[in-house]
Amino acid sequence: MEKSPLIVALDVPTIEEAVKLVEETEEYADIYKVGPILFIKYGPSIVQEIIKRKKDVFLDLKLHDIPNTVKEAVRQASEMGVYMLTLHTLGGTEMLKAAAGAKRGKLPILLGVTVLTSMREKDLRELGISATCREQVKRLVQLGKEAGIDGFVCSVEEVEEVRRIAPSCVAVVPGIRPESFHKQDQKRTATPSEAIKMGADFIVVGRPIYTSPSPKETAKAIINEIENAGKHR
Ligand code: C5P
Repeated sequence: MEKSPLIVALDVPTIEEAVKLVEETEEYADIYKVGPILFIKYGPSIVQEIIKRKKDVFLDLKLHDIPNTVKEAVRQASEMGVYMLTLHTLGGTEMLKAAAGAKRGKLPILLGVTVLTSMREKDLRELGISATCREQVKRLVQLGKEAGIDGFVCSVEEVEEVRRIAPSCVAVVPGIRPESFHKQDQKRTATPSEAIKMGADFIVVGRPIYTSPSPKETAKAIINEIENAGKHR
């Protein structure tokens, strides 16, 4: 069965709030993203809690370490039943190859984070990177594709390039802001339908859903907007 394009980011501080959010939005999402906020506090029990509810877990730990450490971490995630896992493409070819080689079966889907959607060119300059965001994403996607990872996390501004360079890879776009919602710390943003039209397989939505008075209605509105826009790969 095809998965819903909506991934809900569970960036809430407690397991109770996370479970409530899953239950409220379960009709509209199949994959839930667990990041460091919940994972540092609860560890594998938060992953199991979601799997128990027949949902898939996107473990967003953005691994960036030496190849051996990342390889072992991918093994652990795989044994834990994680569906998607992120790692920083900036970790380089050896790290990415070690991660890809650590998978036993198809899972977890390894997603390479390119340039964070909260960053702009001036932030890259500060890091000594003179490329534009777009150029930097292209370079990192090429690297990740050659190393054998399964997909990429990028902003809406680069998703077309990702599709072109790595057409068989999964493209995941965070930084999603429905029309009525303010951007907060996100810079390179798009509405749900814009992101899907530009080629995203999945969109990641956090605050617009979990701070909404009705997470269920907001999730429903996002899915309706995507369906009305008429395109999901
Ligand atoms: O609340 P908001 O919708 O901005 O949440 C976006 C989520 O996507 C956060 O959990 C954040 O960690 C994640 N993310 C991101 N940019 C990336 C990768 C992941 O915003 N490049």
